[in-house]
Amino acid sequence: MTPDGWDAIADEALRAVVAANQLRRPRDLASGAPATVLSHTGQPVVTFASNDYLGLTQHPAVRAAARAAVDTYGAGSGSARLIVGSRPVHSLLEERISAWRGTEAAVLFTTGYAANLGVLATMGRWASLICSDELNHASIIDGCRLARAPTRVYAHCDAAAVDRLLAGAGGPGIVVSDSVFSMDGDLAPVAELSAVCAEHDALLILDDAHLVLDCLEPLDPGCRVLRVGTLSKTVGSLGGFVCGPKAFTDLLVNRARSYIFTTAAAPAAAAAAIAAIDVIDSDEGDTLKARLRANIDRLRPGHPSPIIPIIVGAEDQAIAASEALAAEGVLVPAIRPPTVPVGTSRLRVTVSAAHTDDDLKRLTEALRGAGIDAGTDV
Ligand SMILES: Cc1ncc(COP(=O)(O)O)c(C=O)c1O
Repeated sequence: MTPDGWDAIADEALRAVVAANQLRRPRDLASGAPATVLSHTGQPVVTFASNDYLGLTQHPAVRAAARAAVDTYGAGSGSARLIVGSRPVHSLLEERISAWRGTEAAVLFTTGYAANLGVLATMGRWASLICSDELNHASIIDGCRLARAPTRVYAHCDAAAVDRLLAGAGGPGIVVSDSVFSMDGDLAPVAELSAVCAEHDALLILDDAHLVLDCLEPLDPGCRVLRVGTLSKTVGSLGGFVCGPKAFTDLLVNRARSYIFTTAAAPAAAAAAIAAIDVIDSDEGDTLKARLRANIDRLRPGHPSPIIPIIVGAEDQAIAASEALAAEGVLVPAIRPPTVPVGTSRLRVTVSAAHTDDDLKRLTEALRGAGIDAGTDV
């Protein structure tokens, strides 16, 4: 094929994105605080789109830890963990994560995305079946694709369907689910899923990327479980992890390709994560969570997580609503297919402990101006 051939392919594919009204480009914000400025226009805005649920990206102790790590170790780590990229700060972070999450061990990945790829592709080698919730995150879907095991997608939160699938698996099964769903903010039925897994000797993999409040039911103690998490949302830094029994984390260190064949996390990101977990585990962390809970309740009382979807339905209506809010200086993304099912396009409001009363007032007024009530779908 001539180079022209590839230019034509790229042009045509991009035209298809435009024709589907799906062209997107990043917008630069002047800072990570909720109240900030759009860099290219200078417009002041308040964002309700970040996953920085406790505001820790901006916390003085977290910033100071990142700066100190740059001074000690430099900007990057230079190679993969198993070559010469590992620093004491990486190992300390793994110890801190396992203490925080109450597991025997933890293994650090460079993103949550890489953690899901690694755990599913690795454990999937020994599975006869992977059961995956239909609303699981893209990184779980991609991990299932990499795993050399058949995957069956079950109806959202349907533990009885999982039971039936595992009964016919004919060998070791895996069940994988977001614990807090990223586009709906609802909770997986973790007590039921873990009981079903215990019954069938299946491995439960829970992705806690959006878990910030203590909102999950207790798990069946007879269930083997691995917890995936990210350091990029509640923890305010960058990175991902898998925690659970040490035999599993050691296996991932030795077999997970997304751990082995990639450069170790920047030391500054690891140090920032340790400082942030220290905050989360302190009285200050409890205060931040209480503030987050109160902010969620102001918008949708009793909603279990900081992700508040306002289902609009049609794609162009969701875009129009998002644009109307942006004109008022309030950034709330429109989420459309293929990220969510057709007909369920929505505004996805994410709330942080860092939002002030004034920020929330601005959001509710802008929503009211657009004829939307945050408490219900449109
Ligand atoms: C449920 C879920 N899992 C995993 C990820 C990936 O995490 P990270 O952004 O750290 O790669 C995300 C978000 O991006 C997510 O929403």
